[in-house]
Amino acid sequence: MHTPVLLHEVLEALDPRPGEFFIDGTIDGGGHAREILSRIGEKGKLLGVDWDEGMIRARREEWKGKKNVALTCGNYAEIPKIMKAAFAKRSGVPKADGLLLDLGFSSEQIASSGRGFSFMRNEPLLMTYSDSRVPVRELIAGMRADELERVIREFGGERMAGRIARAVKERGRKKRILTTGELAEAVRNAVPKGYERGRIDPATRTFQALRIYANGELENLETLLGAIPEIMNQGGRVAIITFHSLEDRIVKTHFKKLAQEGTVELITKKPIVPAREEILQNPRSRTAKLRTARMTNF
Ligand SMILES: C[S@@+](CC[C@H](N)C(=O)[O-])C[C@H]1O[C@@H](n2cnc3c(N)ncnc32)[C@H](O)[C@@H]1O
Repeated sequence: MHTPVLLHEVLEALDPRPGEFFIDGTIDGGGHAREILSRIGEKGKLLGVDWDEGMIRARREEWKGKKNVALTCGNYAEIPKIMKAAFAKRSGVPKADGLLLDLGFSSEQIASSGRGFSFMRNEPLLMTYSDSRVPVRELIAGMRADELERVIREFGGERMAGRIARAVKERGRKKRILTTGELAEAVRNAVPKGYERGRIDPATRTFQALRIYANGELENLETLLGAIPEIMNQGGRVAIITFHSLEDRIVKTHFKKLAQEGTVELITKKPIVPAREEILQNPRSRTAKLRTARMTNF
């Protein structure tokens, strides 16, 4: 099971109240959503979105009898469109009192999606949440070494990006790279011995970069942030958990702009990070940053 990250802090910021309408844009195993649902109660409404069909299927099964839950498989960047479709039968689309995004992938997806999110498992090299995206095995086959280098450097912060990209392309020329194991091996062979003094697997940053690129993760986040005024109610609360410095910078910059315009007020100025105990219990939370904002009342 995936352990929800910063659960207490998210609930404190979102402050779900009975009868409110909440959106969880990355519902996954429902770790946060389950708590939100219990607080908004039967009079409240929850719209749950995830790009991974398997996750939506599982939540539909879990919440079969619940009339106040709508679940949609799709990209959270398209939430305005998803809301229109979900409330098509009503006279108007309600605005949300709460919105949560908990970015990236979950431990459940590593364990059971078979989509190649981790170099720790030998699986088909897809790394996409949805079949609507081009899998990484095809992307790397179609890219030039300099394009691959740029992606690995830009989205992974990998200083060995040039060496890695050339090695991956070289290996792919001999035999196409189709699995996570083959990609991880090509990366590990490309870097010098003692890389990063053994602190992280040499494939870590390359895998992260390719996942971000393949799913358009930064663009999705920018698009959603731009739609906040359209989605949210006056006084509504937004909480976004990121796991990557590029994502956090995007959220920080955007919230700042909205605050300057007077559209939101920041609930906390600094990002909230997990306490030491949480990191010890759930190492995945180590890089998490939570930023929260409240829509101003006009
Ligand atoms: C870290 S998990 C969320 C975990 C959840 N909060 C919980 O505690 O159970 C992130 C989820 O976001 C989904 N996801 C990633 N990018 C997405 C996107 N652009 N649109 C919708 N879902 C996305 C993934 O499929 C994954 O299920």
